[in-house]
Amino acid sequence: MNVLAVCLGNICRSPLAEGILAAKAKEADLDWYVDSAGTSGYHDGEKADRRSIEIAKERGLDIDDQRSRKFVVADFDQFDLILVMDSSNYQNVMKLARNDDDREKVEILLNYSFPGENRAVPDPYYEGGFGGVYDLIDAACDQVLEVYRLEQ
Ligand code: 4NP
Repeated sequence: MNVLAVCLGNICRSPLAEGILAAKAKEADLDWYVDSAGTSGYHDGEKADRRSIEIAKERGLDIDDQRSRKFVVADFDQFDLILVMDSSNYQNVMKLARNDDDREKVEILLNYSFPGENRAVPDPYYEGGFGGVYDLIDAACDQVLEVYRLEQ
């Protein structure tokens, strides 16, 4: 299964989601390909925000090699599941969807922890709070694993 995590800049939240989900899939012995992207190209080619790199490191994850890239329409072809961090990411990705197949791949990440609530992973770029963001993503990724592990 191929999973793409998406946020706005692809430097704070989705790099954490990529790192966390890839580590959990590996631990569960699942052959998943996990990547991340941003709906903006603001930080194309840049490393993750140093605060994301640091919190990941504190929790035992190395996301130093990740580089930001923009979400592209072809991602709908490569990925089976597209996990967005907030409703603005959701709208931006849905605008690019070409058909129902594309649209059905897009899910708000925290709906795995809080079904039907459309809660956002808060954007920590200006406000900070990277520890809380990490915990929210981590708990939701556990649920993602639970749901799709059974479908393998
Ligand atoms: P992210 O956070 O979407 O979680 O990567 C942001 C990073 C950069 C900006 C906004 C959000 N920015 O405006 O540059």
